[in-house]
Amino acid sequence: MIGLYRALKRSGVVGLNARNGTYILPRNSRHLYPLVDDKLRTKALAIEAGMPVPPLYGVIETEHDIGELESMLEPHQQFVIKPAQGSGGDGIIVVVGRMHRRATSYRQVSGNLITIADLQHHVSNTLNGQYSLGGHPDRAMIEYCVRFDPVFDRVSHEGVPDIRVIVYRGVPVMAMLRLPTRMSGGKANLHQGAVGAGVDMATGTTLSGVLGNDVIDEHPDTGHPIHGIAVPQWDVILEAAARSADITGLGYLGVDMVLDRELGPLMLELNARPGLNIQLANRRGLQPRLDTTDREAPLDADINARVAFARARFAHTAHA
Ligand SMILES: Nc1ncnc2c1ncn2[C@@H]1O[C@H](COP(=O)(O)OP(=O)(O)O)[C@@H](O)[C@H]1O
Ligand SMILES: [Mg+2]
Repeated sequence: MIGLYRALKRSGVVGLNARNGTYILPRNSRHLYPLVDDKLRTKALAIEAGMPVPPLYGVIETEHDIGELESMLEPHQQFVIKPAQGSGGDGIIVVVGRMHRRATSYRQVSGNLITIADLQHHVSNTLNGQYSLGGHPDRAMIEYCVRFDPVFDRVSHEGVPDIRVIVYRGVPVMAMLRLPTRMSGGKANLHQGAVGAGVDMATGTTLSGVLGNDVIDEHPDTGHPIHGIAVPQWDVILEAAARSADITGLGYLGVDMVLDRELGPLMLELNARPGLNIQLANRRGLQPRLDTTDREAPLDADINARVAFARARFAHTAHA
C-alpha cells in the first residue's frame, strides 16, 4: 500500500488543497455551481445542447405530488428515483422489476422488494433534504433505468457502471471506469464500495483497478479480470466530456457517462468538485497532465482537436 502512494507521489498527485485552491477556485465560478449541483438543471442544459441523457419520466416537487407517484411509475417496469441535488450515490433507488401479489412490490437491483409506501416515504425524505447538499429542500426525479452495454456483463455484479472523465480547461485529462459491486448496492460511486479502474486515454482500454485503497485485478463479486476491457465509443465519450465543459463554462469538472445498450453513451451528471481517487485508480497523478494542458493544449480549438490532443498526449504508456 505504501508503495502505491509513494509511486503516486512521484507521479505528481494533486491533493485536496491544490485541487481547491489552484484549480477549482480560479476555474469554476461560484455562480455556475447551480448548473451542476441540480441534476434537473444539468439535464435541461444537456438536452438544449443536443447531448443524449437518460430520459426523464417525471419530477416530484411537493408532498402533495407524492400522491401521483404510483401512477407516474405505472408505465415503467424499470426506473431510477434520485434526489436532484444528491451526491455520492446517496438516496438513489434503482428499480429493475415488479411483482404483483396482493399488492405491487418493486424489485430493487439488489433483489430486495419494496412497497409503494416505502417509495413514497423515500421521496418524502428526499423532498425534505435528507440527501441534498447542505440539507436543502430538494426535488425527486424519476428517470429511465440505464441498461448497460453487454461489454460490462462479466465485471458488473449489480447496477450500472459509469465512466468518470476529468476535464480541465475543456481538455479531457484522466478517466476511470467505475464498477458497482454487491457492496455498493448497484451504484458506481467509489465510497459506496464500487471498483474504480483506470482507463488509457489513448485507447479507452481499462487498466487494473482499486477497491478502497487496495489494488485489484479481478471484480470482487464476479472474479473476472477488470483490465483490458475496451470501452465502446471511446471517442464519443471524450467528445461529450469536452462538450460538458463548453456548455457549463466550468474549467475543472468531473463528467459521469453511462453506456446504454440501445441509447449509447449518455451523460449522467456533472461534478464541479470531482474526487481525487481517480489518480489511485490510474496510478498516475493529475499534475503532469494539468501542467501539459496549461502549457501545450489547443485551448481555443474545437472539441475534436481537444480530444485528439488528449488521446495523443495522455496515453497510459507516455510519461504524463
Ligand atoms: N438512470 C440510471 N440508471 C441506472 N443506474 C443509475 C442511473 N442513475 C444513476 N445510476 C447509478 O447511480 C450512480 C450515481 O448516480 P449519479 O447520477 O452519478 O449521482 P451521484 O451524484 O449521487 O453520483 C451511477 O454511477 C449509476 O451507477
Ligand atoms: Mg455520480
